[in-house]
Amino acid sequence: MGTRRSTADAAPAAPTPFSTLITTASHAAHTEVKNSTFMSDLLGGRLGVAAYRRYTEQLWFVYHALESASEALVVDPVTGPFIRPELARTAALERDLCHLGGPDWRAGLSALPATRAYADRVRWCAREWPGGYVAHHYTRYLGDLSGGQIVRGTAEKHWGFARKGDGVRFYVFEAIGNPAAFKREYRALLDALPVDDLEKQRVIEECRHAFALNMAVFRELGREFPLSA
Ligand code: HEM
Repeated sequence: MGTRRSTADAAPAAPTPFSTLITTASHAAHTEVKNSTFMSDLLGGRLGVAAYRRYTEQLWFVYHALESASEALVVDPVTGPFIRPELARTAALERDLCHLGGPDWRAGLSALPATRAYADRVRWCAREWPGGYVAHHYTRYLGDLSGGQIVRGTAEKHWGFARKGDGVRFYVFEAIGNPAAFKREYRALLDALPVDDLEKQRVIEECRHAFALNMAVFRELGREFPLSA
């Protein structure tokens, strides 16, 4: 009775920042998408530019879903701080697709079933669930600012695009001078997300879902572009 604890013993451990929780929770899924057959073949230079184009087309559907609802999301207290014009990718994707497919690129555009499911989920979150939208926003934009740069370098090398030019503009964030600083600020926004712990858990779950949706797209792309050898 009355056992005294030292101040150090009594100090509660600092809670793990939400940005760390979300990174940790998606670590295994990230390894899986990175090592998917399609990504490995693409980055290994074993696929032609047609596969890269098809992949870029799929990204257009996802980013169109993410970005066409921006006006409503910018005034929402949960999603608002994340909606930053310097992240917007649709215009860059359209320039890349025009370069890859010619001026009629839109005519041949078609979403794989997995892409349709992914874009539908993003659209649903944009309409119904701000926390879920943040999960999808994080999964795409922080990824593009990080590993996306590896994809760009590979694409320039294998398919001869001008450095940071047409074909790879999607990966070039011209209005973000310091990506490392931007990512730090982004993580601070995640840490300040104005939702309770239960909702944060749901956001983490949706982030895992987002990775699974990406993986499904890679699987379908892999089936469409199998290595003949
Ligand atoms: C071959 C493909 C990929 C490579 C090489 C790659 C590589 C990387 C690298 C090097 C980082 C930086 C880690 C750090 O800041 O310490 C990163 C972060 C990230 N990647 Fe990827 N990645 C790839 C594909 C993907 C895909 C397909 C997604 C999801 C759509 C994704 C989502 C993310 C996210 C969300 C982060 C940020 C993690 C965080 O700091 O919280 N990545 N990636």
